[in-house]
Amino acid sequence: MSEVDLTVHLTPDDIVRGLRSDVRTGLTATPKSLPPKWFYDARGSELFERITRLPEYYPTRAEREILATRSPEIASLTDATTLVELGSGSSEKTTLLLDALRQHGSLREIVALDVSESALRDAASALASAYDPVSVHGVVGDFTQHLALLPGSPVRLVAFLGGTIGNLVPAERAKFLSAIRDVLDDGEWLLLGTDLVKDPETVVRAYDDAAGVTAEFNRNVLHVLNRELAADFDVDAFEHVALWDEKEEWIEMRLRATRAMEVHVPVVGLTVSFVEGEEMRTEVSAKFREDEVAAELADAGFTLKHWWTDEEKRFGVSLSQAGAR
Ligand code: SAH
Ligand code: AVI
Repeated sequence: MSEVDLTVHLTPDDIVRGLRSDVRTGLTATPKSLPPKWFYDARGSELFERITRLPEYYPTRAEREILATRSPEIASLTDATTLVELGSGSSEKTTLLLDALRQHGSLREIVALDVSESALRDAASALASAYDPVSVHGVVGDFTQHLALLPGSPVRLVAFLGGTIGNLVPAERAKFLSAIRDVLDDGEWLLLGTDLVKDPETVVRAYDDAAGVTAEFNRNVLHVLNRELAADFDVDAFEHVALWDEKEEWIEMRLRATRAMEVHVPVVGLTVSFVEGEEMRTEVSAKFREDEVAAELADAGFTLKHWWTDEEKRFGVSLSQAGAR
């Protein structure tokens, strides 16, 4: 069986250092906010997998439908030898692409990068067994910091699936897409999954499910702060909020304090006050239109070659190429 080679760019120390800095900035700001990457400890990654199976959460099923239909075409268009997946999570849908690349005969290497070491280890060892003798590299890292350190030789196809690009705000997206462009040679490929603008009720339901799994996922960030920074958040005193922002065309997840309270975060020397009803932003999840995706890709130095949606036009997958038309 092929070996998994795991590179750790984010040690537990690096993670705590990053978390301290984000907490210091986010909890002293008005309004308070926390970046979404801190949802994903082992429990957060498991909760996300549960979300993907919820009846209300359509993005995973819609993207899977596109990949199931289009992967053979993607393999022959790209001739990719290396699949690089960013924010790979369980890499479950990725197997559709990998099967097609193997069938096409080009697949040599798989690189998976995620901030969640537990999710990455499980996914990378499953991929190593399933795609032996293809070499599998797992990279524990941050896709906003560690792209230049990624292994893998041309022709590379970078996959950024799930709509995770929507968890970045526009300035972060521009920086991130340019950083991907910078590590690719002209002619290499980016496959990008983007959730699409649709009726707000459908979107809000997807982020406020009846079983309360998304609420638990949202509150998980407070468990992470309690464990990693010895904070004393009363997690049950925060309720989940999912709001559609019509102007920004994004869902905003927030945690609302149900009573006034003081929270201590000793590792950063902070005491933070919440008033009753105060809301702290924990995630944005932007929804896109095709022309906007094409423009953001062009601004970053990519040329959009193909745009596919599921039958119901809920989700878009774009294939673009680094460099000129
Ligand atoms: N691609 C998978 C998982 C999406 S969930 C899918 O389509 O289902 C988002 C994933 O991105 C999680 O696994 C999370 O751990 C990872 N992630 C979030 N922020 C990250 C960051 N800044 N750097 C690297 N990985 C990140
Ligand atoms: C990972 N990301 C694309 C998910 C999303 O839909 O924005 C995270 C998520 N948040 C709530 N539910 C799922």
